[in-house]
Amino acid sequence: MQVRHAVIPAAGMGTRFLPATKAVPKELLPIGDTPAIQFVIDEALGAGIDHIVVVSSRHKPGIESYFEPRPDLVEALRRAGREDAADRLAAVGRDWRVSIVFQDEPRGLGHAVGCAESAVGDEPFAVLLPDEIMGDSSLLAQMNGVCAASGGSVVALKAVNPEEVSAYGVVDPMSDPDSDGVLRVAGLVEKPSVAEAPSSLIIIGRYVLTPDVFGEISRLRPGAGGELQLTDAIRAQVDRSPVHGVISTIARYDTGTPLGMLQASIEITLRSDELGPQLADWLDDL
Ligand code: UTP
Repeated sequence: MQVRHAVIPAAGMGTRFLPATKAVPKELLPIGDTPAIQFVIDEALGAGIDHIVVVSSRHKPGIESYFEPRPDLVEALRRAGREDAADRLAAVGRDWRVSIVFQDEPRGLGHAVGCAESAVGDEPFAVLLPDEIMGDSSLLAQMNGVCAASGGSVVALKAVNPEEVSAYGVVDPMSDPDSDGVLRVAGLVEKPSVAEAPSSLIIIGRYVLTPDVFGEISRLRPGAGGELQLTDAIRAQVDRSPVHGVISTIARYDTGTPLGMLQASIEITLRSDELGPQLADWLDDL
């Protein structure tokens, strides 16, 4: 079955990006002229998804504004002969459906995903963290396929140096990966110490989850950092259904920190036909 819904948790406080994020949500900070969240939406649409569920916070009204139609602005651009800009603006939310749900307090990623239950219903769904930008939709499309074939949840993985694991969820692989980088997961642990980590395969910000995860989320107790952790809900699924990991080989940018955002801005803009050559010349001069 094609996964149709993508949940984008965007209700966090963005403390690593203060003071910018006091007024502007991290998810709306731009790379060139495009807000970070739009890259993640385009990735989901490219994997066949047509319903975007954004989990937002009442402190972040800019996120709702981004999705509101602005026919006046579109019209003004058309009058000025700026058809391309008008078409881009008119397309936001037109060819796909967007639902916004609210998380009252940032109680953790598991809790944020739980807030999307009524918008998603009883179907498998993707979760995309908007502070990680992927090079293309191929990883998510592959994960959708693994979920359809196995009937269980799927997490995206990346191999890192063992000393880097403590900031992430880490999986305990049941087997070596197959030739497509897919492996069965025996267990998951959130933010383990280096000594306790079961592997150096970290969970990166893409998930395809079966809807029984909502039951597990409702039973969560505070985990690492006192938060309700999505990793703990998926670990509970491992006891009842096959959970798989897919080792990613595509580009990934961590835009949750100022340095990561700058690096993503430069790398992604260098690839753009319009601005890439000008930016490259300027970087050479610099
Ligand atoms: P992060 O921990 O990276 O984002 O969560 P954050 O909490 O906003 O940022 P810092 O750590 O304070 O700098 C990953 C994603 O999950 C969302 C965040 O908005 C971010 O996009 N999130 C996290 C929620 O929606 N709710 C939560 O309770 C926690």
